[in-house]
Amino acid sequence: MSTPTVEKHSAALDAAEVGGVKLITVTLRIRRFNPEELPDPVWVDYQLEMDPKERVLDALNKVKWEQDGTLTYRRSCAHGICGSDAMRINGRNRLACKTLIKDVNPEQPITIEAIKGLTVLKDLIVDMDPFFQAYKDVMPFLITSGNEPTRERLQTAEDRERFDDTTKCILCAACTSSCPVFWNDGQYFGPAAIVNAHRFIFDSRDEGAEQRLEILNDREGVWRCRTTFNCSEACPRGIEVTKAIQEVKRALVTRRF
Ligand code: SF4
Ligand code: FES
Repeated sequence: MSTPTVEKHSAALDAAEVGGVKLITVTLRIRRFNPEELPDPVWVDYQLEMDPKERVLDALNKVKWEQDGTLTYRRSCAHGICGSDAMRINGRNRLACKTLIKDVNPEQPITIEAIKGLTVLKDLIVDMDPFFQAYKDVMPFLITSGNEPTRERLQTAEDRERFDDTTKCILCAACTSSCPVFWNDGQYFGPAAIVNAHRFIFDSRDEGAEQRLEILNDREGVWRCRTTFNCSEACPRGIEVTKAIQEVKRALVTRRF
């Protein structure tokens, strides 16, 4: 794709005060892409009046609802739970619903583009199929043998703690799409799949750890990780992603989990 140009989509706005809240004029610079209309992406500027304490998702909604209904992006819960609105904001992967305008240098145009490493389908929407396929490939479910239990499977607090961090994943793909290895090789399982394998490998009730470790011993598995820490920095849930990957590597070598 060639270098996108910048188009202006402006509305004459003056900073205003509404209900005692001082609004500021913000420019969202969004990388638009619609393969049905243009072969290349284009940067388009939108000017808005925003409360600095509103979120980038609020600004995107304002563009869509008040200026250009064709703007396309995913969102659902608007509270950092569903993981659907990961995007690159000022060059960094974040959830739009968890990012306040005041925290992204609103004096300058705020750049917004799709996450990297996955095919862009339209505007901020990428094809998540390869991401979810890698997730499915690590068997993210409890594997047990023997008779069906007649009550819940018990576990000590210490055993539960062992994988507590990796239970927090919301599958937003911010980690995987910030990984330079994944950018260069879309076959790599990627941090999110490894995090979700970790969640079961270290679960004392699970019996599928050996199988998952063999899957991740693949040439596209954990050994591709170059420990750049991009994934840990990108994770909106604060999961120590790189640490989880290191623990899976260690389990592969020691066979202790
Ligand atoms: S580990 Fe964090 S960044 Fe990666 S998919 Fe899960 S929640 Fe998103
Ligand atoms: S909209 Fe659900 S995490 Fe942002």
